[in-house]
Order: sequence, then structure tokens, then C-alpha cells
Amino acid sequence: RIPIILDTDPGIDDAVALAAALFEPQLDLQLITTVSGNVGVDKTTRNALQLTHFWQADVPVARGAATPLARPARDAAGVHGVSGMEGYDFVAHDRTPLAVPAFQAIHDCLMASPQPMTLVAIGPLTNIALLLTQYPDILTKIHRLVIMGGSAGRGNFTPNAEFNIAVDPEAAARVFASGLDIVMCGLDVTNQAILAPDFLAQLPTMNRTGAMLHAIFSHYRSGSMSTGLRMHDLCAIAALVQPQLFDLRDCFVAVETRGEWTAGTTVVDIEGRLGQSANARVVLGLDVDGFRKWVAELLARAP
Ligand code: BDR
Ligand code: CA
Repeated sequence: RIPIILDTDPGIDDAVALAAALFEPQLDLQLITTVSGNVGVDKTTRNALQLTHFWQADVPVARGAATPLARPARDAAGVHGVSGMEGYDFVAHDRTPLAVPAFQAIHDCLMASPQPMTLVAIGPLTNIALLLTQYPDILTKIHRLVIMGGSAGRGNFTPNAEFNIAVDPEAAARVFASGLDIVMCGLDVTNQAILAPDFLAQLPTMNRTGAMLHAIFSHYRSGSMSTGLRMHDLCAIAALVQPQLFDLRDCFVAVETRGEWTAGTTVVDIEGRLGQSANARVVLGLDVDGFRKWVAELLARAP
């Protein structure tokens, strides 16, 4: 099994990615870290703990950065609701986050692992940038970093920038310049990773996971229940366990941090015009039917 750490800002599509990280048999989820993104980090941490409790998952949660490296936080409560995971009444529990911050928990987990681990980052990249800055030697302990973020085309938060990168461009720039083995799943594919209305309608009777997801999906605004919902973050997990569903291209990716109107844009040099070495494998195509089949099988296996 592939040992992974999930860095997340739940977040409704984050919740689905967490389900996949827990119930995909090829994966061994060892740590969940939270970050400020879709909503503030107190809420994303509370949501992550509610989800691990809901699934009775024995995976520690570490609370991460409350603000981006160099900018005030901006959220996506308009997409995920004020709580970040609106729509379902989770029962009370007594779970608490680890005593150490996310970047420290990731470091400790990597150091304790006998083999390099895969990081999956599906929120702003603040925690990952902090890790690389605090522990520059940690690179050898990271097998790969799979990111949901960015776009080779248009944005979804500003005209050019995708939300996770736009919220903390300085962190993203640090991460893309790190030399890590990076797989970037951007809007080019995640905008196509749509669960169709007829499938969504089956969720309430599928199992308790399906019923819970259906309840929060009713409040998710990346698409709609009647036109289909975009599973951005789930693509990062799919890219790990179902790589044959994706087309990848080695590219140089720069993150714009200074542009007056373009901060957070991922400049993806598909044609190699900038003469720079590739620093990421960028996902540019998705087998949508194959993705939907994988999701259906995955959720049917959940409790
Ligand atoms: C990304 O932004 C967030 O709202 C989603 O959870 C996803 O990580 C999509 O742009
Ligand atoms: Ca997310």
C-alpha cells in the first residue's frame, strides 16, 4: 500500500477525497493535516475531526496554518457554506488535534516512516511551504507530492487563478520551486470530474457515507445537484491510484506572485517556450467515464 499524508481544508470535495484516502485499498492514510482555505483553520480542523469520527478512522489530525504566508486569508464559504461542510448534523465527539502544528506533524510522520511517503495537498500550500522552509533536508523523505491546484487555462477564483494557488501564491511558488516530484491536478481536469445528477440521486440509499455526502452535496456550489458536481480534490487521489485515467505532461510551472491582476496564476509552459526544465507533471486530460466508474465503486465500498 502507498503510505500517504493528506493536507486538506474540508471543504465538501475535500470530504470526498478523504473518503477515498480511507477506503481505497491501495492507500495507507497515516496523517491528516488541516489548513486555512475554504474556511478558517478552526473550522477545517473541526470538520476533519468530525469526518474521522464519522468513519471511525484511527488517523491523527494536526491543525495547520491559520493564514497564508504573506497575505490575509480569503475563503470559499460561498462554495462550501459558512461551516465549510454545511448540511449534515455530525454527532458530538471528543477527538482533538495533535499538540504539534501541521508542518511539524508532517515532518515527524515522514521521519518515522521507513520509506519515503506521498503527500497529497488539496488546499492552499501553506503547510507544505512551511515544512520545506523549516526542514529543507526533508525532500528525500517525500516520494511525491500530488497537488489539487492551479490551471493551465482559466481560473475559478480570479480570471486566471485557481482557488488553492490564489489564496497563497507565495507558498505555491515555494513548493513548485522545491525540486520535489510534483503531480499537478488543476482545473483542466478537475472541472471535468463531474458526478452526474443520476448518480448523486442514488447516494442517500447507498450507505451512510452516501447519505452524509448527499446531505453536504446539497450545499456545495461547484456545480449543482441538477447539473452535476465537480470533485476537484478527488482527482488528486484518483491520480495516485488510477493513473491510467489521466494524461500527464512534464512541464515547467511558475506561480505568479507579483502580478497586479494575476497573482496566483500557474504559468504552465506546455510548449516549452520559456526554456526552463520541467518541475511538475501536469495532468491535462481525464477519462471521465473511467473516473465516474472508480468513484461509484469506491463509494459503494464505504460503510
Ligand atoms: C479547490 O478549491 C476548493 O474550494 C476546493 O476544495 C478545491 O480544493 C478547487 O479550486
Ligand atoms: Ca480543498
